[in-house]
Amino acid sequence: MTSDMISSRTRAVLVTGAASGIGAAITERLVADGAQVLAVDLSPDPDGAGQPFAADLATREGNRAAVEEALARFGRLDAVVANAGFQHVSPVFDFEEDRWEALLAVLLTSPFLLAKYAWPALADSGDGRFLAVASVHGLVASPFKAGYVSAKHGVLGLVKTLALEGAAVGIRAMALCPGYVRTPLVEQQIADQAAAHGISPERVLREVMLDRQAVKELIEPADVAAAAAFFLGPAGAAFTGVAIPMDQGWLAH
Ligand SMILES: NC(=O)c1ccc[n+]([C@@H]2O[C@H](COP(=O)([O-])OP(=O)(O)OC[C@H]3O[C@@H](n4cnc5c(N)ncnc54)[C@H](O)[C@@H]3O)[C@@H](O)[C@H]2O)c1
Repeated sequence: MTSDMISSRTRAVLVTGAASGIGAAITERLVADGAQVLAVDLSPDPDGAGQPFAADLATREGNRAAVEEALARFGRLDAVVANAGFQHVSPVFDFEEDRWEALLAVLLTSPFLLAKYAWPALADSGDGRFLAVASVHGLVASPFKAGYVSAKHGVLGLVKTLALEGAAVGIRAMALCPGYVRTPLVEQQIADQAAAHGISPERVLREVMLDRQAVKELIEPADVAAAAAFFLGPAGAAFTGVAIPMDQGWLAH
């Protein structure tokens, strides 16, 4: 199949965490660009873009069901966007062990299971893509986020491995690593960090959360979605096995 034929075909995409924040913005953008999107979430948004599907990605069955549903509805799968996530803020000595396991299940094991179950379909696509929405916290740490930081570092290792294995079968894999994006996850963290540091929410945003960003502005979900659309599209074909920061200068220190 020529690359023109591949790019002119309607793409079938599975997006996780599609009911909120970055996942909702990516789903909206891909649908606007003409893709068929299975919009997977714990509580999918029936009024959101894409085709809603409920699955708990903390379980093996949930990840398998999501891939099987995409294949049943679309007859194929060209891309997976592993985006679902949550945060838990706590000093390590007090970090709840159940929260650690839940973070690893959603942020690291779910991307692995999605890749595993979708692998034959992504290979059949002829131009299969796997995009993890990781984080700057896949590359550097912050205090009180042991589970999140560890899982995000792990998913970058997964993406590199997928890229090496995928090269032989036409699958590319990469990660986006945003700084702070204006979503409910961040709004919740402002409150949690205020409690952990014992300071006001305003000071948390200015002095703690955006402290490492050279540009003291939250990133908008639509900007992450535009980057995802670029990397999933024909122009993204040179990128595989990499973690791309979009971090307002965080890592320039
Ligand atoms: N907001 C940020 O500043 C930021 C920065 C870097 C990376 N990220 C990453 O981007 C991704 C999306 O974050 P967001 O800010 O849009 O968060 P969000 O809370 O707005 O949305 C996350 C979605 O994931 C879903 N989800 C969580 N656990 C699930 C499960 N077990 N099964 C199915 N769905 C589940 C939630 O229901 C929610 O709809 C996450 O992986 C997050 O770590 C966010």
